[in-house]
Amino acid sequence: MNRPVFRTSLACALLLALSLASHAGADTLQPDPAKAARGKALAEANCAECHAIDLQGASAHRVAPPFWMMSERVPVDAIAEMLLTKATPRHSDMPHFEMSADQAEALAAWIAWVQPVAHGRRFLEQTCAGCHAIDASGESPHLGAPPLREVYRLYPIDALEEGFSEGIVTGHPDMPVIHMTPVQVSDVIAYLASIRPR
Ligand code: HEC
Ligand code: HEC
Repeated sequence: MNRPVFRTSLACALLLALSLASHAGADTLQPDPAKAARGKALAEANCAECHAIDLQGASAHRVAPPFWMMSERVPVDAIAEMLLTKATPRHSDMPHFEMSADQAEALAAWIAWVQPVAHGRRFLEQTCAGCHAIDASGESPHLGAPPLREVYRLYPIDALEEGFSEGIVTGHPDMPVIHMTPVQVSDVIAYLASIRPR
């Protein structure tokens, strides 16, 4: 299947592919929100009929991997380049899109955005980082709030899952009772697992 939804000149695409490759890595965990939003719009229009493109869910096409699981198979850095160079699987139903480097970069940013570890960290940053340290090192801004890496170390996963979904009640006046969705719970746990000391 060949469906040139996106159009651009090859020279321009190659140039931008090079510049993409040179700064890939640094911003892959937390991509630029504006770029990710553009990528989401492109994905809705071009990819959603086959791929699950959001933070959760199964793909409409039986063998199209959900975007939120993609980095388990392909490093997100490589996805923009793959989309540009059309190194996407040729033997399958995955169409070859003619897209600009900017569009490929935006799509890759969106794919990075929906990865569990990145989403989990973003959630903690927005909801908990005002009081708790959320990274592999560093003190909590609120003296009474334990760094979340400690919480992860001390409690069994089951207890964390239950606490996060049902709301943690500590009896401390400053700790709000927070309820998380199942996707937020599993993504936060994926993030905390990723910063666990080895
Ligand atoms: C008509 C269905 C269809 C559409 C539309 C489609 N894909 Fe796919 N895509 C697939 C299938 C099927 C595979 C799996 C191919 C395989 O493994 O053989 C795939 C694989 C991929 C892969 C490789 C992932 C991996 O883990 O190997 C990437 C990246 C990808 N698609 C991105 C996209 C993007 C971005 C869009 C939209 C611009 C898109 N696809 C649109 C069907 C589609
Ligand atoms: C306004 C400050 C504040 C915010 C925001 C906050 N916490 Fe807390 N949290 C605390 C304080 C203070 C404690 C210590 C309570 C105690 O010792 O009884 C605590 C305790 C906890 C504990 C219990 C640790 C233990 O050993 O029992 C967990 C788990 C926890 N917080 C998770 C979170 C998560 C996850 C978020 C974000 C979704 C969050 N907290 C947001 C202040 C906060």
